[in-house]
Amino acid sequence: MEEKAFFATTVMGLEDVCAGEVQRILGLSERPELGRGRIFFRGPLEAIYELNIRARTLHKLFLLLHRGRFESLRDIYLAARRLDYTDIIRPDQSFAIRAERVGQHDFTSMDVAAQVGQAVIDSYTASRGVRLKVNLDEPDVEIYAFVRDDEFLLGVNTTGPSLHKRGYRVFKHPAALRTSVAAAMLYLAGWDGRGLLLDPMCGGGTIPIEGALMARRVPPGSFRRGEFAFLSLPFADEEEFSRRLEEALRAASKDRFNIIGMDKFRAYLDGAARNARSAGVEDTITFVQGDATRLADYLAEAPTHVVVNPPYGVRFKLRGLMRLYKGFLSSLSDLAPGCRLVLITAAKGTFRRAAEGAGVEVLEERRILHGDMWASIFICRA
Ligand SMILES: C[S@@+](CC[C@H](N)C(=O)[O-])C[C@H]1O[C@@H](n2cnc3c(N)ncnc32)[C@H](O)[C@@H]1O
Repeated sequence: MEEKAFFATTVMGLEDVCAGEVQRILGLSERPELGRGRIFFRGPLEAIYELNIRARTLHKLFLLLHRGRFESLRDIYLAARRLDYTDIIRPDQSFAIRAERVGQHDFTSMDVAAQVGQAVIDSYTASRGVRLKVNLDEPDVEIYAFVRDDEFLLGVNTTGPSLHKRGYRVFKHPAALRTSVAAAMLYLAGWDGRGLLLDPMCGGGTIPIEGALMARRVPPGSFRRGEFAFLSLPFADEEEFSRRLEEALRAASKDRFNIIGMDKFRAYLDGAARNARSAGVEDTITFVQGDATRLADYLAEAPTHVVVNPPYGVRFKLRGLMRLYKGFLSSLSDLAPGCRLVLITAAKGTFRRAAEGAGVEVLEERRILHGDMWASIFICRA
């Protein structure tokens, strides 16, 4: 089977987790190469269906058209002009270039978009005698041009809007966690459906819901109702895609898992329950109104896996945050000594001091970019 080159975007700081997931889903013999917020790999064309249907930590999957170094804007034009676009855009289709630029350059991302757009039109006119239409609002085909320092990457978006927008969220918590980050944290916690998974500050329920979808092996792409960018690419085989989606859905279970989401506020729990219903996993999550600093008062059983996104302190005073972190960690190590804890916070110093005080051992800290804010994921033993 012919191999294609791909790259995928994910959360910065979670590239290795995403690479591991992609390798597992595609059964690749080699681990994808890690970049900054991206991974690179080769695989069959069908990877487009499989990853868009099944991946939990990947944001967008691109067919790689070009990856190389450049010195000037002219080099970017020439690299894009050398490529043939007839396999990825039909003559009657429109396209758009989306450009992103990081680093010091004497040109803007708009200049990159204009040059690459011109190169695509020139290449297509030369090989087909057709001048392609540009449509910036609703293009049939979206081509991404990424410029970082002296690296130029060009790829076709096979996904459309990022996969972290799962489509089941009907209630949005004001401090909601990205679904892809929640899924990565669950992988890092080693959650496989065995034991009791607890999110003691669950807000809109992202972590318990992702935990339930993962345990049941529900393909996250199934919530999109077929809205993928690859479906408008000339080589897309809609029947093949539907067959693979059906197969992934058949492998999903309706089994009950032991998952608890807790929060102090009833309104958030009601929202979380609505999200869980929308994701079809309300029957395997118990939502409990309670206080994370007094876990033993609300739980009959000790959790084996705790994955949590506590408040960071944006709305909290520092002293209040320390009290919350200390209270939660002490209550957890009393109730479930030895259990695995994976926690995300931007208040890393406060968390480390609280962990030390409560005798919680930090095994690993990784820095990730959550939206536009750097945060730390701590992997700990309570
Ligand atoms: C950052 S939000 C969690 C957002 C959630 N991960 C989501 O995606 O929707 C933190 C949550 O902790 C809850 N919380 C704060 N203190 C708490 C406590 N002592 N016990 C339980 N929940 C608490 C807040 O009500 C808030 O919903």
